[in-house]
Amino acid sequence: MTMPARAMGLPLDRFDGPEKVTGTARYAYEQPVDRPAYLHPVQATIAAGRIVAVDTDAAAAEPGVLTVLTHRTAARVASTADPELLILQSAEVNYRGQFVAAVLAETSETARYAASLVRLEYQARPHDVELRADHPDAYAPAQTNGGFDTDSVLGDPEAALAAAEVGIDVTYTTPRYHHNPIEPHANVALWRDDRLTLYLSTQGVHRIRESVATLFGLDHQRVRVVSPHVGGAFGGKLHTHPDVVLAVLAALALPGRPVRFALTRQQMFSQVGYRTPTIQRVRLGADSTGRLRAITHDVIVQTARIKEFVEQAATPTRTMYAAEHRRTTHRVVPLDVPVPTIMRAPGKTPGMFALESALDEMAVACGQDPVEFRIANEPPVDPELGRPFSSRGLVACLREGARRFGWADRDPVPATRRHDGWLVGTGVAASMYPVYRLPGSAATIRVDPGGRYTVSIGAADLGTGTWTALRQVAADALEAPIHRVELRIGDSDLPPAMAAGGSSGITSWGSTVVAAAVRLRLRLAEGYGGSVPAEGLEASAQMPANPHREEFSMYAFGAQFAEVRVHQDTGEVRVPRLLGVFAAGRIINPKTGRSQLLGGMTMGLSMALHERAVVDPRFGHVVNHDLAEYHIATCADVGTVEVHFLDEQDPYVNPMGSKGIGELGIVGTAAA
Ligand code: MOS
Repeated sequence: MTMPARAMGLPLDRFDGPEKVTGTARYAYEQPVDRPAYLHPVQATIAAGRIVAVDTDAAAAEPGVLTVLTHRTAARVASTADPELLILQSAEVNYRGQFVAAVLAETSETARYAASLVRLEYQARPHDVELRADHPDAYAPAQTNGGFDTDSVLGDPEAALAAAEVGIDVTYTTPRYHHNPIEPHANVALWRDDRLTLYLSTQGVHRIRESVATLFGLDHQRVRVVSPHVGGAFGGKLHTHPDVVLAVLAALALPGRPVRFALTRQQMFSQVGYRTPTIQRVRLGADSTGRLRAITHDVIVQTARIKEFVEQAATPTRTMYAAEHRRTTHRVVPLDVPVPTIMRAPGKTPGMFALESALDEMAVACGQDPVEFRIANEPPVDPELGRPFSSRGLVACLREGARRFGWADRDPVPATRRHDGWLVGTGVAASMYPVYRLPGSAATIRVDPGGRYTVSIGAADLGTGTWTALRQVAADALEAPIHRVELRIGDSDLPPAMAAGGSSGITSWGSTVVAAAVRLRLRLAEGYGGSVPAEGLEASAQMPANPHREEFSMYAFGAQFAEVRVHQDTGEVRVPRLLGVFAAGRIINPKTGRSQLLGGMTMGLSMALHERAVVDPRFGHVVNHDLAEYHIATCADVGTVEVHFLDEQDPYVNPMGSKGIGELGIVGTAAA
């Protein structure tokens, strides 16, 4: 059963909107602190090797410089479990741009200038930063990111491919992508009275607290992480990255002085992860009626030599289409590069680019319409797990999208429609994203005698709308008007919350808040006859597990349609029209929800046409490491983007009936 809605489903304005547009919402770097010291890092100029000489005299002599940190002077960490975080711990250099020193000064200008005076000498060793399909170091990891099986085989795909009446064999590549949220990674770190306070921009305050406490050997009660507003994250602010470590090392070196440290845009290209480039081979085999019999999807990705991260790009192929014979594999190549990480719909975004592009080519090879071809290969149950979907709206999205887009009016023969020198084409692709519920959240709700509720949970708002949507969930669970419900999030002093990742925020936090609300209402009814005692009343709950987890496969789906124009003389590509239809359960807030999908589709358009990190193999750095050269779609690049939601009721996913929508919108756009 899903809970009834009063506030849920309303397109409410963001409660944090006025603060944001008036500039009073405080982001990490803006937290007011006394006598801040400013940090500027020094970055390695080689991709692999050792530091053999350090000269900080000139930097230290600069007026206004407080201290210079190097691997010889910085504090030692207590845990070496995460090699990405061993900053200033040894003379080793593992990738170009790694932090190798830092200057702390009274002003940011002094720190930056003095950092340029630090002299380091290196002994370089040969490096390799290029992903190649035939790389001799490629290996099969134990599992992929997210804990998925590295390989999966059903039936006999090679025999089925050989026997297929229609077949394609296509290799797709995607480049390295960077998250580039508008708010850079920023830290204000203060070590005072044996307690560390960190204001930073993160997807999960408790996650950062645990990782910093472990790294520095501190009792976690001595670490507080505060992050009320985040100006975009896209996965780059989930894990702890070297910027946080450097800020803490600096705070430990200057007890009592708050340290301010924001990454420059250029520094972000080597410090906070990125989406691995991929090489993906997809082979499809069908019978003469266009029924898919075999699918193989073999993925090669890169990781850093110091730490394994394996993008799960073949995993969507385990879910999307029916075929008795199937193989999906992942191989990874360790290189002298920064550690890749999750980025909006990790695995699904590059994986669905390949699979959905191949589906289109296969539809053409089979002489079928790409929409009908997908519908004809819809699986009745989850093809790998054999269990039903809790709800699966792909076919309905394809049909509704085709109707709204005017798909029937297209000319199915490529390169036949011309308009003023432009070739006009149309594309379609599916979107998908799993419904995750991640453990580890708790919520407390307090009610005062005046009937005002305070809901506390250490959740995050990445700019996505949590401040508003979670309050809508709470109001309905409490059966209270929303103006009587106050929400507290973004502080590790609040009850622990799973980080905002895997589009699981509303499912995880919402289910937890509903459980706390049920408990509070029960306590009120049973102990107090429904009236609030003078001292108020409080109830807490842990996140409940989903009892239907083993029964069903749970996914949101969508269908995206694109009109693309290619100039026949210049090759210029324009996308005047994108249209997406999504089946994502109950939409808690159609206004913020629509923004999530608009943003995802725009990011997918940008991925397809504009974004690409260019790595110079001689030096190992991203050459186009700024927003002038790493072009992200601007308003001028984006035409009409339409977002539609189907009314989907799914009683199995969570009490709200909602599915995650933060990542769904980027999946499939590039292929369309
Ligand atoms: Mo999202 S890339 O799972 O933070």
